[in-house]
Order: sequence, then structure tokens, then C-alpha cells
Amino acid sequence: MRDWSLHLLDLAENSLRAGAGLVSLGVSLEEDGRLIITLSDDGCGMGPELLRAVTSPFATTRSTRKVGMGLALAGQNAERAGGGLHVSSAPGRGTTVEIEADTRNIDCLPLGDLAQTFFSLICLNPLRPDFEWRLRSPRGEEHFDTREIRQALGEGISLGEPEVREYICSLLTEQCETVFGGIMQ
Ligand SMILES: Nc1ncnc2c1ncn2[C@@H]1O[C@H](COP(=O)(O)OP(=O)(O)O)[C@@H](O)[C@H]1O
Ligand SMILES: [Mg+2]
Repeated sequence: MRDWSLHLLDLAENSLRAGAGLVSLGVSLEEDGRLIITLSDDGCGMGPELLRAVTSPFATTRSTRKVGMGLALAGQNAERAGGGLHVSSAPGRGTTVEIEADTRNIDCLPLGDLAQTFFSLICLNPLRPDFEWRLRSPRGEEHFDTREIRQALGEGISLGEPEVREYICSLLTEQCETVFGGIMQ
């Protein structure tokens, strides 16, 4: 993958397939340049055997493709950037993927267009699940939650409505700019 955002798009697809009702993303740039990304869901989770195998490039439960690569590739890119990937999961308890990378490492991927990626996930899945993110850097912190937007809109107005989409897109872009603008791509 070209950047972390594309990895996240790919990993979020696992959460959707796992039937998640809520997908939470945390992206934090620490003072020392470490990037910590956390993607958690309340989907079906994984049993211990799959969990053990999941970061090896030969694990998948899909029948359409023999080799599942999403987590393995993200893990490789994290390790290349002086970090790593950790998955915790249990059946019925959801899944959390933690990625750590050193942004000062020359091999660290750029962040990519996080706002556009998250916006796409929301707009392609306007009914379910809910999406939440928390962005943090030495510059500040921002939080976004589709549950709050749904509540404000009331029943009958979908997140897929053009005006709502436009609002979400500009809010996410602004939040990214506030927290990461100028200090991370
Ligand atoms: N968030 C998740 N919830 C439940 N199962 C997951 C999740 N993420 C990954 N898995 C399981 O791990 C397997 C490997 O995932 P991944 O590396 O992304 O490859 P792929 O999606 O191509 O199968 C998936 O097929 C799925 O069975
Ligand atoms: Mg996948």
C-alpha cells in the first residue's frame, strides 16, 4: 500500500465483513514522532487459532481468495518503519488492531488522505455501522462520531443525503488539518 490511509480502508473492510455495529479509529502522533493507529470494532471477533495465524500472509477465511494479506502487509510496513502490528480479538468480543510506526524512519509510509478515506467508509455505509474517530497530535485533539450526527439529524435523514455528506466531508477535512496539517502528510 502507498500510505496508511489505504491500509486502514482495507482493514476497515474486515470490520464491515465481521458485522460491526461500531468501528472506531484512533490516530495519534506522539511528541517523539511515533505514530499510533488503533482500529477497533465490535464485530464477530476471532478465535485463538485464527488470531495466531492472522498476521501471517497465509491466513484467510474467505473462499474467493486463498491468501489473506491485509493484516500481514500492514504489519510488514509497520515493522519496516521501526514499529509493529498487534491484534487482540475474541469471538463475540470484537477486534482491535494496533499499529505503531516511527514517522522519523525513512521507510515510514505517509499518512495519506485520512479524511477522504474515512469519509468514503461512512458514505459507502450510510446505515450501518457507526464510525468514530479520535485524532491527536502535539497540536491538539479532535473527535468525530456518526452517532452524534444521527442524533442531531433525527430519524428519516440519512448520512447519505448530499448536504449531510458535504458537511461530514468538510468537518473531517478540517479536523485532519487542525491536528495533522503541516506536520504530517
Ligand atoms: N476485524 C476483524 N474481525 C473479525 N475477523 C477478522 C478481522 N480482521 C481480520 N479478520 C480475519 O482474519 C482474516 C485475515 O484478514 P486479512 O489479513 O485482512 O485478509 P483478508 O481480508 O484478505 O482475508 C480474515 O479473513 C478474517 O477471517
Ligand atoms: Mg482484509
